[in-house]
Amino acid sequence: MKNRKPIEAFASRLIRWQKTHGRHDLPWQQGRVADPYRVWLSEIMLQQTQVATVIPYYRRFLARFPDLASLAAAPAGDVMALWSGLGYYARARHLQRAAQEVVARHGGRLPRRVEEIAQLPGVGRSTAAAIAVFAFGARAAILDGNVKRVLARAFGIEGFPGERTVEARLWALAESLLPERDNVAYTQGLMDLGATLCTRTRPRCADCPLAACCVALRQERVAELPARRAKRAAPRRAVRVLVLRNRGSVLLERRPPRGIWGGLLSLPELPEGMLPRRYAGAMPLPVVRHAFTHLRLDIQPLVLKVGRRETAIDGVWLSLKQLGQAPLPAPIRKILAGLT
Ligand code: ADE
Repeated sequence: MKNRKPIEAFASRLIRWQKTHGRHDLPWQQGRVADPYRVWLSEIMLQQTQVATVIPYYRRFLARFPDLASLAAAPAGDVMALWSGLGYYARARHLQRAAQEVVARHGGRLPRRVEEIAQLPGVGRSTAAAIAVFAFGARAAILDGNVKRVLARAFGIEGFPGERTVEARLWALAESLLPERDNVAYTQGLMDLGATLCTRTRPRCADCPLAACCVALRQERVAELPARRAKRAAPRRAVRVLVLRNRGSVLLERRPPRGIWGGLLSLPELPEGMLPRRYAGAMPLPVVRHAFTHLRLDIQPLVLKVGRRETAIDGVWLSLKQLGQAPLPAPIRKILAGLT
C-alpha cells in the first residue's frame, strides 16, 4: 500500500508532539478518570468558542450544576443565566434538553457509543466523536473547522471544506488516520495543533511536528489551503447607453454621486425596456463588457447623430478632443475611443 507511510507517520508525529507540547492542564482534563459529563459540557462550550473564553464559564457552570442530574432538573432560566455572554445560546437549550433525555432514556449516564451520543440535541458527528474519545477512550474521528484546516494542508486536499464532496473526503481521510492506540493524545493533538500552530493566518510551520510530511508546506501553498468558499458569479446586467453625436461632439451626463461610477461623466443610460421613438434610428456598436466585484455589465452603445437641440437629455457636450481630460469610467472611455 503506497500511501500507508505518510498516514502512519501523521498520527505518530502528532501523538509524540501532543505529549510534550500539547495542552494537559485544561480544567476538563483534570482527574485520573474522565468525567463524561464534564467532557461533554466542555466540548459543547468549545464549539465555536476558544479555550480561554470557555474556562471561566465552564468553572461557574460546574459549580452550579456539578452533575448531569442537577442540570436536567434546573430551571431553564438558571442555565441560560450561566451561559449569558458565551454566545450561541441554542447550545445551552440543547444541552439541558440533552441532559433531560439522558436522564429519561439512559438512566442518567451519558451513552458510550458515538452513534448514540450523536443522537443527543446539540451534538454533531465531530462533537460526538470528541466526547467518546475523551470520556471513554473510543477510537473515533473528529472533524471540526480546525481539523479540516490541518488535514487540508497536511494532505494537500483541494476544494472548499464546507462543500459536501470535500467534507466527505476529509471525513474519510480523518477516519483513515486514526491510530490503533493513544486516541486521546491523538485527538487532543489535532485540536491543539489547529489551535496553536496550524492557525488560519500566520501558521508556525517551523515548530510543526508535521512539517516533514506536510504537502502544503512542501508546495508552498500553506496560505492557499484550505481553499476559500467559491465566490458566486456576479450577476450580469445589460444596459444600453446613447452615443449622441453632433458634429464633432458627444453628449455626456453626470452620474449621481452614489452608486456605480458616482460623480463621473458617462454616456446617458437608457431605461430598460423599449427604445424610445426618438432614438429608433440609432446604430448599435459592439457590446462592451465590464466586470465589477459584484456585477458584470454588458454595455450596448447606440450611436445617433442629432441636432444639438433635439435631445431630451440634460448633459454636457464635449468634443472628441476634450474627452481625453474628462472623468470617464474606463469602459465608457473605450467606447468613445472607437469614435472618429
Ligand atoms: N476545542 C474543542 N474541543 C477541545 C478540547 N478538548 N481541547 C481544546 N480545544 C478544544
